[in-house]
Amino acid sequence: MKLKKLCALALAAALAVSAFPLSALAAKNPKKNADEMDIPAILEDVDEKGTVNVYHWWTAGGEKDAIESVVDGFKEVYGKIKAKSNAIPGGAGGAMVMKVKVLQQAGKSPETFQAHPGQEIEPYLQSGMLLNLNQVWDYANLSERALPGLEQLCTASDGNKYIVPIGIHKSNVIFYNIHVFEELGIEIPDHEDITWDEFWSLCDQLAEKMPEGSYPIDLGDRKGWPASQVFEDIMLGTDPQIYEDFINGNYNVEDVTKVLSTYAKLMDYVAPDHSSRDWYEASGQVVAGTYAMQIMGAWMQPLMTSMGQEYGKDYGIFTFPGTEGWFGMCVDGFVVSNDSADVNAGVRWAYNVSTPEVQTSFSALKESISPYSDTPDDTYCELTLKFKNQLTDGGTKVYPSFTHGTALPWSASTSLQTQIQEFATSSDHDAEYFANKIVNVLKEASVKGDWNLVD
Ligand code: GAL
Repeated sequence: MKLKKLCALALAAALAVSAFPLSALAAKNPKKNADEMDIPAILEDVDEKGTVNVYHWWTAGGEKDAIESVVDGFKEVYGKIKAKSNAIPGGAGGAMVMKVKVLQQAGKSPETFQAHPGQEIEPYLQSGMLLNLNQVWDYANLSERALPGLEQLCTASDGNKYIVPIGIHKSNVIFYNIHVFEELGIEIPDHEDITWDEFWSLCDQLAEKMPEGSYPIDLGDRKGWPASQVFEDIMLGTDPQIYEDFINGNYNVEDVTKVLSTYAKLMDYVAPDHSSRDWYEASGQVVAGTYAMQIMGAWMQPLMTSMGQEYGKDYGIFTFPGTEGWFGMCVDGFVVSNDSADVNAGVRWAYNVSTPEVQTSFSALKESISPYSDTPDDTYCELTLKFKNQLTDGGTKVYPSFTHGTALPWSASTSLQTQIQEFATSSDHDAEYFANKIVNVLKEASVKGDWNLVD
């Protein structure tokens, strides 16, 4: 994994990130400073009573079971602490930032909440509400245990760690229903790394043969982010240099128009009412055979499993065309508020997500790659192991997702989702018009990064 190439989060301080003005409002609980806390002693004290409110966005089949296993794993160690799981539906974390803002303003900061490392945590950081977790990293030996490059990704603009990673998914994946292809007599390529030509040919054959009301692809973008997910896949699959330039703030209308022109072509094969469904509802329709394919990150696996679908028998995957040899990296983790009612319980939660016990049960149910190299390979199902081997292969190039918080400021990423969803739902998919709007979004957010993805 060439994650060392994903440098430059350290430069994030220089990036203009729009922080929400949390600090302006008095929180009801005093802020704790990690430097004044003996975190090892807190972690070793398993008898203290308390409450940990855990906010996350795992509501779809499979992911729900996965987070419940983490709650159970927590209770096994810290049995006297009440662990309350609070789900913010929608996926991808866009709604989390606003939810946390409201809770914090009301003096009810969650003890811990889900986040992606990178730009997504900067607004929390700028408002001074995150607890420094350097001691947790040291205590749990995370620098040594983390997969190469991950520590750097989890190091914030001020050089400290505020997040403990729990799982990793590959984002540049297409899921498809094997039975649909078979029933229509469409030959499935014998390799997962398909070319653009093969992809378009499959789309054409499906469009020709699928019955009325069924479509080759669905987006399931009621929440906006799945449309942005497709945009980032197409961008990397068009030219990794365009992707690197885009997240570094060296965007131009011409490049974005090129990406959106391909997106416009893709829309010819997408169900017209794609934005009326959430991603997991679309997946249900893929299983039902109404749509043949869905462009989605690998977190769709546990959902498929929860619907009784088996990889290789009922569903297959393709690497998103043009992205062969690249791994779109989506990391989930937990951060801790420094002004919640029970900061100690939050710290214990963050630590506990990294333990081998929790990692084993969570990774198996979430079908995610453990961020820690000591999680045994027999934890994984066939497909996750394949993705894990890709990620850890020295020849694989890794790129950070901007739809999932890491590579663009939160404000840019959410506005982008709105623009891209509008593009996808517009009747004429005017690439140049929306390219201008997208470039303006990045300009307004003063996007400036120093990522080096391409040699
Ligand atoms: C991503 C997250 C995944 C999955 C997905 C859909 O942001 O990393 O684990 O939750 O959203 O909800």
